[in-house]
Amino acid sequence: MVEDITERKHTEETLRRAERLASIGTLAAGIAHEINNPLGAITLSVDAVRLSADHDNREEIVAMAMKNIQVSALRCGRIVKSMLQFARDEATRKADADFAAIASRAHHMARSFARERDVRLELDVAENLPLVRINPTEMTQVCVNLLFNAVEASSPGGVVLMRLRATGEVLRMNVVDQGRGIPAEEIDHVFDPFYTTKGEQGGTGLGLSITYGIVQQHGGTIDVESKPGRGTTISISLPIAGDAAND
Ligand SMILES: Nc1ncnc2c1ncn2[C@@H]1O[C@H](COP(=O)(O)OP(=O)(O)OP(=O)(O)O)[C@@H](O)[C@H]1O
Ligand SMILES: [Mg+2]
Repeated sequence: MVEDITERKHTEETLRRAERLASIGTLAAGIAHEINNPLGAITLSVDAVRLSADHDNREEIVAMAMKNIQVSALRCGRIVKSMLQFARDEATRKADADFAAIASRAHHMARSFARERDVRLELDVAENLPLVRINPTEMTQVCVNLLFNAVEASSPGGVVLMRLRATGEVLRMNVVDQGRGIPAEEIDHVFDPFYTTKGEQGGTGLGLSITYGIVQQHGGTIDVESKPGRGTTISISLPIAGDAAND
């Protein structure tokens, strides 16, 4: 079989970009909050100047407004600059890390989503797991993507288990659900960009393709096992730090 490698590389690069944007997205709420105060101050200052036409102390009001606008604009500028710096660092940085902490953070992020759907999240972490060389933001996103998919596939009362084990030279993470499962004719498509069965109310179909890209970037592998009507297990294997000489 002949494969168009250029095309695949292009798709992977597109996905990497999408992933970077997605990690910036998780910061967006915080940044919006930070920027809102100075923006509010700018709006108020402009209003003050506009309403000052007939005031005796107009000059004073204008000077004060100018000062406020300048300070606020500088503040916005600093926030944007640090955000860009963060995005650049975050996109490339890998470090030896404790995957258990990342799994636990992802659990935290998925908790209310699961609770709303009456799905229980469980975390089963072996003791003394070795470190893995990863980008923490990207791996958190991998875990969150898998947890959200598992919860979305589950019925109320269902359980989603995330299990972490070290076997030989790899760290293995399983995300196990008892949900609807994936029919045989769909299973080959789940990693395709924009493939989704979630229709109208959500689902870009990018979650698993981004996940696939991140796992590849880390020298790992990802597998799906599913029994329609019984549930799905997604397994990720990552090289243990020290063995990851290939990056
Ligand atoms: N645990 C699972 N159980 C059953 N089906 C799944 C599971 N995980 C993924 N799928 C199937 O794979 C498809 C693609 O998943 P993917 O995460 O890429 O996109 P999505 O979840 O539809 O959209 P998004 O992740 O953008 O919200 C899903 O629409 C669903 O049909
Ligand atoms: Mg998804």
